Amino acid sequence: MSELVFEDVSVRYGSRRGGLTAVDGVNLTVPSGQVVGLVGESGSGKSTLARSAVGLAPLTAGRVLLDGTDVRRWPGRRRPLQMVFQDPYSSLDPRMTIGASISEAMPMPRTGVRFAGRRAAARRAEVARLLELVNLDPDRADMLPGHLSGGQRQRVALARALAGRPRVVIADEITSALDVSVQGAVLNLVRDVRRQLGLSMLFVSHNLAVVRYLSDIVAVMYLGRIVEAGPTEQVLSDPQHPYTRELLSAAPSWHTPLFEGSRDFEGSDAEPSDPHRPPAGCRYHPRCALGPRARPDRDVCRTADPARDAERRPHRAACHFAGEDYFAGEDLAGEDDDRQEPSALASRAPEAGRLSPTSPEDHKRPGAGRSSPSSAEQPARPGADRPTPPTGGPTPPKGART
Ligand SMILES: Nc1ncnc2c1ncn2[C@@H]1O[C@H](COP(=O)(O)OP(=O)(O)OP(=O)(O)O)[C@@H](O)[C@H]1O
Ligand code: SF4
Ligand SMILES: [Mg+2]
Repeated sequence: MSELVFEDVSVRYGSRRGGLTAVDGVNLTVPSGQVVGLVGESGSGKSTLARSAVGLAPLTAGRVLLDGTDVRRWPGRRRPLQMVFQDPYSSLDPRMTIGASISEAMPMPRTGVRFAGRRAAARRAEVARLLELVNLDPDRADMLPGHLSGGQRQRVALARALAGRPRVVIADEITSALDVSVQGAVLNLVRDVRRQLGLSMLFVSHNLAVVRYLSDIVAVMYLGRIVEAGPTEQVLSDPQHPYTRELLSAAPSWHTPLFEGSRDFEGSDAEPSDPHRPPAGCRYHPRCALGPRARPDRDVCRTADPARDAERRPHRAACHFAGEDYFAGEDLAGEDDDRQEPSALASRAPEAGRLSPTSPEDHKRPGAGRSSPSSAEQPARPGADRPTPPTGGPTPPKGART
């Protein structure tokens, strides 16, 4: 178990004139053994922040620390951070068997050539163990990725990430590209594996319901910055930043099963700001239903950056009025009766239910015959902890963005 800390991290793409700062001075901690869910609309910088931790997006400023050590100076060959990507079709080499792909990601043991045979056997055993861990039949090790469904490929991608024995896993929209029928099963798997191995995890998603299902802490990102962060249930039941509230208002109504009505964040009617030229003052002010757009007396939102003293506010909210009763008596622009109070989303107990897959797709592995169609993607291994989801429980989220 390890703690991952983003310390004043900035990432800028492109030249000084034409470029944009995709991540701007982000401070975020993924505590040891916990899941931090990173949410925000498309283009807010979630993937860039995630990729900065594994060196795929070069830092312009700041540091990423793992247990106090800069990850760029991590000693040894083993990479302590592993990333799982959105697209299971492009993250695996189509010419390599899945066993070889997983094996390739294992740290090389320090044994001599004369132990090569023993080493190969140990690798095969480890591949089998990892495939079992992600609920795939070890006999599949010799298959090519092309013979697997999307959900199964994503399981292999997870096994490959775990093969490196990481301290922290970074998962970027890992269910977004999957068929809706298998998203829930993959999320359940991630939840199980994380608990089993005690991993720390940064889980990136544009879907608040998914993040809520998995995360201990939620961080909300807008235009390159974290605008609110805190324990998931606290943030969802008592959001301090109007943007978080906007995200919540776009979540399904109280009467809709948790994932069924989930939709991508739509934001307010106002256009998203140009990331090349972020607004002065509060970056959210051109869209904010509680800022100067609706309340001319709140001119401070245009002139002073609330990120500067966010640390002292509840949930580190980057809003001048966080912690005040500024929601009282206010009508959110565009909010209709069908939209729920934030507390409605938060009050649905995540621990009670597990996501219920709805179709047998992606469950074509040997042993699957033991499962009924409605239990598709559930593990066939005896003893696996898979309580039946409560009747009427949540169905998987709505899937990929357009
Ligand atoms: N390689 C790149 N070169 C230039 N700009 C980039 C690059 N990658 C991302 N950007 C820009 O950086 C900003 C943040 O992008 P990023 O992909 O991190 O957002 P995101 O929150 O992950 O979005 P999504 O939900 O669509 O995945 C966007 O304005 C994007 O266009
Ligand atoms: S600082 Fe002003 S514009 Fe920004 S989120 Fe708060 S109320 Fe809205
Ligand atoms: Mg992204």
